Amino acid sequence: MKTVLLGSTGKLGSAWRRLGQDRDDLNLTDGPGREQVDLAVPGALEFLPQHLGGMGSELIIHAAAWTDVDGCEKDADTARRVNTDSVAAIADICKQNGTGLLFYSTDYVFDGTGPRGEEDDTRPLNVYGRTKTDAEKIIRSADIPYLIVRINVPLASPAHGKSFYSFLLEHLSAGTPVRVVTDQWNNPLDTGRIVRWSWEAWQNGVRGTLHLGGGTYATRYDIARMVADYVGADHSLIEPITTASLSQLAPRPARGGLLISRQTELFGTAPDLPTILQALPGGAAATGTTTNAATDTATGTTGARRNSQ
Ligand SMILES: NC(=O)c1ccc[n+]([C@@H]2O[C@H](COP(=O)([O-])OP(=O)(O)OC[C@H]3O[C@@H](n4cnc5c(N)ncnc54)[C@H](OP(=O)(O)O)[C@@H]3O)[C@@H](O)[C@H]2O)c1
Repeated sequence: MKTVLLGSTGKLGSAWRRLGQDRDDLNLTDGPGREQVDLAVPGALEFLPQHLGGMGSELIIHAAAWTDVDGCEKDADTARRVNTDSVAAIADICKQNGTGLLFYSTDYVFDGTGPRGEEDDTRPLNVYGRTKTDAEKIIRSADIPYLIVRINVPLASPAHGKSFYSFLLEHLSAGTPVRVVTDQWNNPLDTGRIVRWSWEAWQNGVRGTLHLGGGTYATRYDIARMVADYVGADHSLIEPITTASLSQLAPRPARGGLLISRQTELFGTAPDLPTILQALPGGAAATGTTTNAATDTATGTTGARRNSQ
């Protein structure tokens, strides 16, 4: 299937590019990147149709977003342009060209009293969550074939972008202490499974909203301890802290995460976190080594404040 990917340089985008190399049924082309159409620049969206419209794709995967949660809180106009208005423009293009849309959303559409299911009411707590919620609404009313895939805390290897996992791997492997919150809950999944299941769901005609997540629902602190076990690091490197102590600009959902019964029907019992970690680089052999991982994450910190979702 001829498919155009937006956000190919991100964590999910990079997993999609790897999947495209492995699958004969996925003919993946990179859509315009930031250098061609910077979604944050006022007026830039006018150029999207000319870039996307003529590509003749059957499916657009929209994995581009501004994921810096505190950045979005500080600059809501830019957040809306990138995360919401781009979706309206893409949905128009899909409608005009008879193209399907696979869009990534987040558990931040909920209010932190989760985990929540696909049919639960949304109530975002921050600007980022509102921009994604509004984007979902635009897609649902666009009269196009669509799949909205909500995810939470996608885990990617350091080579494939900044994630909570890459942050932990870098520091724990090097024996550097980290501070991680004890009051935010999630059920993370690796980006490899996220894109594979997204693709298989789309190919099998699954439409509407689909939650993808892992089988372990735990606090970031407990997740960090499981990663420490995986890399052979000492739990004493992980200092428990509260979300309030980070004084972040945007409120964070406490009990986040996603209920995944629809996923379970489609793909069977979700893997637990230790199994998911096996899909990522690390392991005891990595202990004592350093990586080039970036360290930006929502809820782990070595002192500097972390922002990205
Ligand atoms: N990360 C999470 O924890 C998380 C959780 C739940 C849901 N999601 C959703 O999953 C999707 C993919 O996220 P991800 O983790 O892969 O994000 P990511 O690693 O931050 O990548 C974001 C992608 O969007 C592009 N982008 C950002 N701002 C842009 C702009 N102004 N103009 C053009 N392109 C722009 C980036 O391009 P550059 O490389 O040029 O910056 C990059 O390709 C997003 O829809 C996100 O909302 C993410």
